[in-house]
Amino acid sequence: MNSERFYITTPIYYVNDKPHIGHAYTTILADVLARYHRLAGVPTHFLTGTDEHGQKVQRAAEKAGMTPQQQADATVVHFQNLWKRLEITNDDFIRTTEPRHVRVVQACLQDLYDRGEIYKAEYDGLYDVTSETFVTEKDLPEGKKPEDLPNIVRIKESNYFFRMSAYQQWLIDYINENPTFIQPDHRRNETLGFLRKPLQDLCISRPKSRLAWGIELPFDKDYVCYVWFDALVNYISAIGYKSDDAMFAKWWPVNYHLIGKDILTTHTVYWPTMLKALGVPQPKTVFAHGWWLSGDAKMSKSLGNVVNPMDMIDRYGVDAFRYFLMAEMILGQDASFTEDAFTRRYNADLANDLGNLLSRVANMTRRFCDGKSPALPAGELDAESADVRAAVLRAVESCFSLVHGMRIDQALADVLAAVKRVNKYFEVKQPWSLAKQADPAELHTCLYVALESLRILSSLLQPVMPGKMEALRAAIGLRGPCTIEELRQFGIFPVGRDVVEPGPLFPRIEKKAPATPPAPAPAEGLIEYADFAKVQLRTAKVLEAEKVPGADKLLKLQIQLGEEKRQIIAGIALHYTPEQVVGKTVVVVANLKPAKIRGFESNGMLLAASSGDQLRLVTVEGALPSGAAVK
Ligand code: MSP
Repeated sequence: MNSERFYITTPIYYVNDKPHIGHAYTTILADVLARYHRLAGVPTHFLTGTDEHGQKVQRAAEKAGMTPQQQADATVVHFQNLWKRLEITNDDFIRTTEPRHVRVVQACLQDLYDRGEIYKAEYDGLYDVTSETFVTEKDLPEGKKPEDLPNIVRIKESNYFFRMSAYQQWLIDYINENPTFIQPDHRRNETLGFLRKPLQDLCISRPKSRLAWGIELPFDKDYVCYVWFDALVNYISAIGYKSDDAMFAKWWPVNYHLIGKDILTTHTVYWPTMLKALGVPQPKTVFAHGWWLSGDAKMSKSLGNVVNPMDMIDRYGVDAFRYFLMAEMILGQDASFTEDAFTRRYNADLANDLGNLLSRVANMTRRFCDGKSPALPAGELDAESADVRAAVLRAVESCFSLVHGMRIDQALADVLAAVKRVNKYFEVKQPWSLAKQADPAELHTCLYVALESLRILSSLLQPVMPGKMEALRAAIGLRGPCTIEELRQFGIFPVGRDVVEPGPLFPRIEKKAPATPPAPAPAEGLIEYADFAKVQLRTAKVLEAEKVPGADKLLKLQIQLGEEKRQIIAGIALHYTPEQVVGKTVVVVANLKPAKIRGFESNGMLLAASSGDQLRLVTVEGALPSGAAVK
C-alpha cells in the first residue's frame, strides 16, 4: 500500500429496485480494500450511494403509485440497511437528490455551457427506449434495420449536447500513455476498441415533456440533465468539488472507481472526457470486475435465479458471505455462485482450517497452561517453529502486496495456506505429548508460536471477516486490531492473557439429506410399474420427412429404429419443418399397434411435450445408437 491516502468509490446504485448480490459484491469489495488500507495506516475515504434520477426510477415510481422522490426514499433504506448488516464502513453515502449534489451538477453544467462545451442542436435520429440513449445505425445489431427493432424509435427534438467528440484523440492517447488508468488490461482494450469508431457528442438533456425526473438545466428550465451526466458527478460532488477546496484537494484524484463490466463505457469514455472539459485531473484507476453468475447463467429476475444477499446472511452469517465472495472471484473475471461451492469453501477454509486451528490452540492452552498465554522461552526457535514464523511473516507481505495488485482471492489463499501450516505444526509438535515432559519449554514454545500466528493471521483476515475475527481474537485474549507494525513483528504476544473456550466459530454446514419424497397419496390413476413396463420406449433416428398432402398438421417420417426402418405419421407439422426433424434422435413408443392415418400406415408414435400452443419433440442428447431402450 504505497499511497499516502486512499479514496475509493462504488457505482451509485439505482433505486428502482432492492439490492441484489451484484450490488453487495461491489460494495463489499470496496469495503475490504478500504479496510486493508486503514489497516496499513493509510488515510482512507470510501464513498458509496444511490443514483436516484432518470427514467428507470420514474417508471418504478409510476408502477408503485408513488412520486419518484417517495420511491427513492423508500428504496434507499434497503441499501442502507444492507450495508449496515454487511458491516460496510463507508465514510459517506451520497444520494443524487441531495442539494449538495444537485448544486454541483448545475455548477458543472453552467461552467461547461459558458465555455461552449455544451451546445443546443436539433436531434433527428434514432433513440433506444430501453437504454434511454441516442444511437446511430452503426450501434444496431449486425444486419438489423431500425424498423426491425421495437425498442428503436426515430425522434426529432431539440437537445443539449456535450462536445465529447472533440476529446476522442486526447482520450486514446491518455489511455495509451497511462496503462493503469483502465484495469484489468482486457477492459482497457475494450475501451480502445470502442474508440476506434468515431465518437459522437453526448446528448446530456431530456425535455421535461418526455422525462421530468432529473436535475433541471441551469440555463434552460424546460430540460433536465441526462441521468449519467448527473450520476458520474457524484464522485466529485461528495468530496467538495466547487464547495470545499481543501477536502477536494485531499481526496482527488480517486485511487479506484470500482465498477462492474456493464458500465465500462460511461466510466472510461463519458467520465474522463467530462473531467477533461471541466479541467479536473483523471482518476488513477477505473477497475471493472466481472459478473456473478448463478451457476453458468446470467442472474435475472425473469429467470428467478437472483441471489438475495439478505437470505445468504440469514443462513450463513455476514462474515462467511463476505469471505466467499472475496475468495471465489478472480477480479476481472466472471464467477459462479452456487450453494454447493459456498458450502464446500466454507467447510474447507473456515470450519476445518481456521475454526479447527482456533479450537485446538484454545483447548491446549486451557488444558496445559491454565488458560493463560505462556511466555516465549528464552533462546533460539527450533527449526520447525522458525519455519512457521517465516511462513506467517511471509503471508503478511504477500497478503498486502496481492491486495495492492487487486488479487484478493490469492491474498486470502496465501493466508489460508499459512493457517494450514500452523495446523500442520500442531500435528508435528503434538502439544498433548509435549505436556508430558517435565520441562515445559517446548510446550510453551509450541503454544506461543501458535497463538502468535493466530494473532497475525486473524488480523490479516479481519478486513474480510471483521466480526468473526474480532471474536477469534477475543477468545485468545486480544482486544482491538493490530497496527501494521505489530503485524510485521513475530514475538510480541502479551503474556498471561485469558484464553477461553471459543465456541464453534464456523459451525460446519452439514449437507441436508435429500428430502425423502412424501409417500404418494393413494390416488386414482396411479399405475403399477408393470403397467409402465408394457410401453416400449425406444430411441429412433429420423431419416426422411415430408408433409402429408392435404393435412397441414402431419409429417410423414421414415425412421431408423435399431436394425429396423419404419414409417410414422406425426402431428407436428405446425411446429417443425421437415428439414428441422431430419437427423434428430427422437423417442418413440415402439409397440403401439400400427394404424392408418390419412391412408398412410403409421407404425409407432413420437413423444413430444406440449403446453398451450407450443410443442417440442422429446429428443436424446449425445451419440446413442437408435433403438436404445428409454426407461
Ligand atoms: N446507477 C448506475 C451506476 C452509476 S455510477 C455513476 C448503475 N446502477 S445499478 O444499480 O444498475 O448497479 C450497477 C452495478 O451493480 C454494476 O456496475 C456492478 O457493480 C453491480 N452489479 C449488478 N449486477 C451484477 C452482477 N450480477 N455481478 C456483479 N456485479 C453486478 O448501473
